[in-house]
Amino acid sequence: MQNFTYWNPTKLIFGKGQLAEIKNEIPQYGNKVLVVYGGGSIKRSGLYDQVMATLNEMGAKVFELAGVEPNPRISTARKGIEICKENGIEFILAVGGGSVIDCTKLIAAGAKYDGDAWDLVIKKAFAKEALPFGTVLTLAATGSEMNSGSVITNWETKEKYGWGSPATFPKFSVLDPTNTFTVPKNQTIYGMVDMMSHVFEQYFHNVENTPLQDRLCESTLRTVMEAAPKLVNDLENYELRETILYSGTIALNGMLQMGYRGDWATHNIEHAVSAVYDIPHGGGLAILFPNWMKHNLKVNPGRFKQLAVRVFDVDPTGKSDEEVGLEGIEKLRQFWTSIGAPSTLKDYDIDDSQIELMADKAMVNGEFGNFNQLNREDVLAIYRASL
Ligand code: NZQ
Ligand code: ZN
Repeated sequence: MQNFTYWNPTKLIFGKGQLAEIKNEIPQYGNKVLVVYGGGSIKRSGLYDQVMATLNEMGAKVFELAGVEPNPRISTARKGIEICKENGIEFILAVGGGSVIDCTKLIAAGAKYDGDAWDLVIKKAFAKEALPFGTVLTLAATGSEMNSGSVITNWETKEKYGWGSPATFPKFSVLDPTNTFTVPKNQTIYGMVDMMSHVFEQYFHNVENTPLQDRLCESTLRTVMEAAPKLVNDLENYELRETILYSGTIALNGMLQMGYRGDWATHNIEHAVSAVYDIPHGGGLAILFPNWMKHNLKVNPGRFKQLAVRVFDVDPTGKSDEEVGLEGIEKLRQFWTSIGAPSTLKDYDIDDSQIELMADKAMVNGEFGNFNQLNREDVLAIYRASL
């Protein structure tokens, strides 16, 4: 392992009926609350009414920002920042999925920054401070509810980048599995692909002696794979929603990645696709990840073999590490296809016409990937294999 310091200040409030806890949490920070949400799912599910009723009981002065897009845009964050600055907002409550939370993170940091918020996303400036914010999560996927990361799209320039700072951890996150009952089947699938991908990004590293980290990753993957096929046919099953919701948080709250840095190349490659085509992040990952794996199999076949044997139950007898690893990758593809995830860019009507542009976007900060550093040719090869 490498030396590490783990710090995660987010209070996780998990379980049925836990929304009421916001009455105990928010008053510590202030009374003027901006509620941020997406395109209307929380109004249809009734969660919006519950949140507003709870805030009213608290006597909060409530402001609203509706319409945060999936793949949240800088233009929407700018609107939120303006509301905060004009009205002296003291606390922000994000009610939604990863997109709503990510947008809220930028609003919180942008409200304390004098320049344009895009500076923070492109790392021209660092978010030293942010307004306090909390989340009521409605979709299991990103882990944004318990990490400091945020991914923002500039639709005008077709750019999508991740950023974050120690100031952008939520103060608390409320995770009630019943709030995820209404997530449609396709978004449920994308979410599970995303959380599995977060584990893969971390699993592929080059640091020696990480036996517990490996087992934690493998258990998280097996747990999601056990629940996923049942959940896609039983969307209102409390126990399955609970398992998946908790898995999504564990997959990206920093707990798995102690003592090493994961690869994280596939996320960069996917963000370039969703920046240009606005496809769901988890859908893009389902297409790209097995192709990243095949492209990098030779870098450390033993690592792929371990995954194949321990997670995909591949029998290694009489086979080379590479053969076992490849079988594991094929089993992953079959598994994702079996639950209804896309497998080629054609599934989103994406052809090769923009792959040079996508490669440019992916390469904007130069070569990347910690398990194996990728250059432009590698990225193009992975896109071509995904067509
Ligand atoms: O906008 P509404 O109407 O709320 O509908 C959303 C949206 O259309 C809907 N939805 C959410 N909860 C629902 C629901 N529909 C019915 N019932 C519910 N309970 O689902 C759609 C997708 O929502 P979104 O928030 O976009 O999904 P997700 O949570 O997967 O977030 C994706 C975004 O997060 C970024 C992605 O790149 C993408 O922009 N990521 C953020 C990360 C982070 N901050 O750590 C890491 C990830 O790797 C990822 O890159
Ligand atoms: Zn992701």
